[in-house]
Amino acid sequence: MIRNIARCLTLWMLVWQSSEAAAATTLASTPQMGFNNWNSTHCRAEFNETMIRGVADRLVSLGLRDRGYTYVNIDDCWAESERDAAGNLAVNHERFPNGLKKLADYIHARGLKFGIYTSAGTLTCEQPGGFPGALGHESQDAALLASLGVDYLKYDNCNHGTLDARQRYRAMAVALRQTGRPILYSLCEWGDNRPWLWAAEPDIDANSWRTTHDIEDNFESMLKIYRQNVVLETYARPGHWNDPDMLEVGNGGMTPTEYRSHFSLWAIMAAPLLIGTDLRKIDPAALAILSNAEVIAIDQDPLGVQGKRIRDSADAQVIVKPLADGSQAVALFNPSEHAATLTVNATELGHAAAERYTVRDLWSHTSREYTAPLSATVPAHATVLYRIRPAQRAP
Ligand code: GLA
Repeated sequence: MIRNIARCLTLWMLVWQSSEAAAATTLASTPQMGFNNWNSTHCRAEFNETMIRGVADRLVSLGLRDRGYTYVNIDDCWAESERDAAGNLAVNHERFPNGLKKLADYIHARGLKFGIYTSAGTLTCEQPGGFPGALGHESQDAALLASLGVDYLKYDNCNHGTLDARQRYRAMAVALRQTGRPILYSLCEWGDNRPWLWAAEPDIDANSWRTTHDIEDNFESMLKIYRQNVVLETYARPGHWNDPDMLEVGNGGMTPTEYRSHFSLWAIMAAPLLIGTDLRKIDPAALAILSNAEVIAIDQDPLGVQGKRIRDSADAQVIVKPLADGSQAVALFNPSEHAATLTVNATELGHAAAERYTVRDLWSHTSREYTAPLSATVPAHATVLYRIRPAQRAP
C-alpha cells in the first residue's frame, strides 16, 4: 500500500516536472515574431482598433502569419489616463471602441496571438503625462491582462524613481506566473542595468530583454544598435533573447539596401522580428524583405545561437551563426560609404584550409560551389548573407 502510494507520488512528480519543463521551453524557443505598432504610429490617433484589426488581416492575407509572424502587439497609449473605480487599467474607448477582449478574440480567431504593453513604473513612457504603469499593481494588472486573453507583455522602464530594476521586473514575472496563462515576457529596460546578466535567471525567466535605447528609422541608428547588440551573443539562448528593438523595414527612412542589412543583421543576431510598419500600406520591396523565408530561417534556426562577430573593421563586419543542420550563416556587412571586398578564409570559419563549400546567397536565392576563401564585393551599407555547408566530396 505504502509502496503503491510512493510509486504514484513518484509518477506524479515525473509528470509534473516534465510538464513544467515543457511550459518553460515553449515560449520563444526561437525568437518571437510578429507586429508592433510603435515604430509606425507612436501615439498618434491612427493607432486604433481599425488599424490593429487591419494589420491582423494583412498578416494573414500577405502570408506573413504563415512565415512565422504570429504576435500582434499594441504599444503605449492604449489605456485611459486613469484607472477605473476598481483600480483596473481601463482601455481608451476612443481608440478601441469594442474593448480589448473583442480585439483579442478577433486576433485569436485568425490564428494569431495578442500582445500588450505597460511599464514597470507609476506611469508609462509617453510624454507628457504617460498612462498608468503597473508598479505596485503587478498582480491586479497581470490578472486583468490574462483575463483579456493577452499572450505577450512588453514591460517598459519609465517613471520608477530609484527602485531596483531586477526587483521591479521580478514582481511582474511572479504576477504573470500566478495567472497560470503562458504570457511571453519581453523586458524593455533598454540595457541600462545590463539585463542580459539577470533577466534569464529563474526568478524572472524573461523571454527577451531590450539591449539598447529606441531605434530610429535611419542607417546610423540601426548601425549603433547593431554594434551594441552584436557583442552580447553569449547571453542568447532558446527562450531567452537579446532584443535590439523592433524593425523599421518599410517605414521609409532607409534605402532597400539598408533595410536588407537591417533584416539580415537582426536575423543573424537571432533577434525578435517585430514588424514596425503599417502592413495596410506596405510597399512590395519592404514586403519582399520581411517575407524572405530563407533569411527568416536563419533567425528562427532551432539551434538557437546568436551569431558571433569574427571581424570588426570600418568596412567589414563578419558574423557567423552555426545552424542546427550543421551549416553556417555568414553575414558580410559593409557599414562604410564605399564598396569593399570582404574575404573570409576557411580557418576563420572553423574549417580545413582547402575546404570547398556549397554557398547559398539568401538574397539572390542562388547557389554555387566555392573553394575557400569566401569572398564578395559588398556595396556601401549592404550585407551579403550566405548559408554555407562543406560540399559533398565525390565518393
Ligand atoms: C519606450 C520604449 C519604446 C516604446 C515607448 C512607448 O521608449 O523603449 O519601444 O514602447 O516607450 O512610450
